[in-house]
Amino acid sequence: MTDQKKTAQLSLNGQTYDLPILSPTAGPDVLDIRKLYSQAGVFTYDPGFTSTASCDSTITFIDGDKGELLHRGYPIDQLAEKSHYLEVCYLLLYGELPSPAALEDFEQRVTMHTMLHEQMHYLFRGFRRDAHPMAIMVGVVGAMSAFYHDSTDINDPWQREVASIRMIAKMPTIAAMAYKYTIGQPFVSPRNDIDYASNFLRMCFAVPAEEYEVNPILSRAMDRIFTLHADHEQNASTSTVRLASSSGANPFACIAAGIACLWGPAHGGANQAALESLKEIGTPDRIPEFLARAKDKDDPFRLMGFGHRVYKNFDPRAKVMKQSADEVLDLLGVENNPILAVAKELEKQALADDYFVDRKLFPNVDFYSGIILEAMGFPTSMFTPIFALSRTVGWISQWKEMIGDPQNKIGRPRQLYLGETERNYTDIESR
Ligand code: SDX
Repeated sequence: MTDQKKTAQLSLNGQTYDLPILSPTAGPDVLDIRKLYSQAGVFTYDPGFTSTASCDSTITFIDGDKGELLHRGYPIDQLAEKSHYLEVCYLLLYGELPSPAALEDFEQRVTMHTMLHEQMHYLFRGFRRDAHPMAIMVGVVGAMSAFYHDSTDINDPWQREVASIRMIAKMPTIAAMAYKYTIGQPFVSPRNDIDYASNFLRMCFAVPAEEYEVNPILSRAMDRIFTLHADHEQNASTSTVRLASSSGANPFACIAAGIACLWGPAHGGANQAALESLKEIGTPDRIPEFLARAKDKDDPFRLMGFGHRVYKNFDPRAKVMKQSADEVLDLLGVENNPILAVAKELEKQALADDYFVDRKLFPNVDFYSGIILEAMGFPTSMFTPIFALSRTVGWISQWKEMIGDPQNKIGRPRQLYLGETERNYTDIESR
């Protein structure tokens, strides 16, 4: 916690209250209102937490006006270009880029935890084949606490460490198994002799009937997509993981809660919805019709993959994703992808439209990701599971930070009550 430097004065009901101002290393100052209710007898009111800091953190910082994203101080575009996902996982978990020896040890520890308990395979068979892979992931991850009892005690630092490694290591296996189950193909075991992204691609696309060669272009693109989704401050799913963890629930249950929250189309489900929207538009000549619908308050249609609570400029992840889309499609020999053409023209027209400009609505991480994922062979139903497996390290890093914080206490918001005041029960005969 930063030292208290300044105070703000609140005048209320003839009294003046001093509210400490906490200054961050980056971003806006914070009004410390922790004693407001006990001193002034009032709550603050902020549905959706548009102006509320729920915690302090040293992991990720977003400058929404500049469109900048830092992980432990390192800009996302540098990490996407120069690093790789497991190194970014180490950075998020431990705060510094690893030495070569530390990275090798970390990657080896993750590799040794990629397999899933054999009895958990039976869980998948309880789902209908047409289940959404996210439904399967919520169920299977939540059930992990029933199989990994030796890493559920959150008060034991060693068990926290093992749970962290297990989650990062097993999420690709679980996501790939969810996919294989829904397409009626046998599960493919992870291998210890290939890298994290290649393992995921092989577990998704290999079949026993033939050898599977990982395409290095796809593996590098997959790893970059993992990195771009790794962490993002106190977004809805991370806040869900923190709130669930604040009650002392086991890490697997808390990550399952984060997966459930991420699934929503306003959050991680937007990548699936964005590609489906682009396909519905179909051709550039239909863009004006859909832009009009997005602006029509009576029409529930929104431009999925556009807008962000924090970014009021280009989402830096979307910039990298857009470059990657061009590269991957070109390297895959996908000439003139019609959906990519619609996406680029849609972005161009939206960013020239006052409605979007005035509201500072720019493409976010979900706008281009689906185009790459589809070109890689994934169905839209696998887009959010891929987001979930990528974000697991962010959820876990934020969870570890919170559990290790001596200020940590159960999260319990208050409310602005607008319901009935006390009244007496009336018997049914007199109603
Ligand atoms: C992610 O928080 C994170 O960091 C999330 C994330 C992460 O990495 O964890 O970045 C990942 O979830 C990205 C966002 C993915 N969601 C979408 O792409 C869905 C479409 N976007 C919107 O639903 C919306 O922009 C949100 C949910 C992302 C943000 O919503 P806010 O901040 O609550 O903004 P708002 O709904 O109050 O919108 C402000 C105005 C409104 O118009 P007015 O009432 O002022 O006239 O902008 C309009 C909205 O109607 N608006 C849109 C729009 N997004 C906002 N209009 C049309 N299309 C859109 N996409």
